[in-house]
Amino acid sequence: MTTIILPRFLPKLDLGDPTDPTSIYSDYDNIEEQGSTTLSDQEYIDRSLEENQFWLRIMMEHAFFLRAGLPPDATRLIKQAEQFETIFEKQLDLAYKTPADPVQISKLNEDTLVLTHKIALFKQNVMEESFCKLRGFNFPLLIDHVRREAVYFLKTLKQIQSRREHPVTDDVIDENIFFLQIMADHSKFIAHLLDPQEETLINISRDFGKQFELLVYQARNLDFGSPSTEVMRDQLTIYKGAALELRAFKEQATKLIENCQVRSILDPKLASHVTREAAKFLSIIDKLESRL
Ligand SMILES: [Fe+2]
Ligand SMILES: [Fe+2]
Repeated sequence: MTTIILPRFLPKLDLGDPTDPTSIYSDYDNIEEQGSTTLSDQEYIDRSLEENQFWLRIMMEHAFFLRAGLPPDATRLIKQAEQFETIFEKQLDLAYKTPADPVQISKLNEDTLVLTHKIALFKQNVMEESFCKLRGFNFPLLIDHVRREAVYFLKTLKQIQSRREHPVTDDVIDENIFFLQIMADHSKFIAHLLDPQEETLINISRDFGKQFELLVYQARNLDFGSPSTEVMRDQLTIYKGAALELRAFKEQATKLIENCQVRSILDPKLASHVTREAAKFLSIIDKLESRL
């Protein structure tokens, strides 16, 4: 049974050697040949700081969530998660202190790449050890989800380091496929972490999950053929409308959880975390719209 379930729900990524951060994104080494544009010094600095400041906090929080969901006897993994919380807190602090100088920003990015690669491997390890072994309270989907976010951050930062920007059509397709799936996952987590008595909120969350799964299919369909600017604009408008609704729902849910007005085992930190990720998706849609 396990051998059937594992490949379906827990696809293993080849994350390579932790000391070789180029190993999982070799396609980003050939961006120059793909008709991309070059980032100016200012764009390079701004994008580096923006991504570091957003995702390093996210990585720090992932370590916290994984630790909180591990069973008490998983002492080695708990200790490693604690170490990652400390490491990413320090790196986040550095991301706010690094001067806007290309050389120093490059060093920040390189250090972040190595650390993020390590936490991606850790997440993969937690996934393998949790499933049917340690158990605990980390859903397999949640562990896989936070691992995918680490890999996305690695790819994004590697691209920034190359100082190249993908053609807008590629970004419209890839960014939306990634973030729409992330939004679908969040909706499913919320539905499962609410108390079974909170039927109204559970149903709303499930509906969001189904809506975003359908949008993932739509986004994947764009990958077949060359979508016109008009088609991409229309799609972005649809995604934006859905993401705005989901963000509003998450904001409302976060307040209800913080004020103990809803029964759940959702940590307010997780509610706030997924709300910030919805806001990040909206900011990416805005940037894509401005490039079309
Ligand atoms: Fe996350
Ligand atoms: Fe997420």
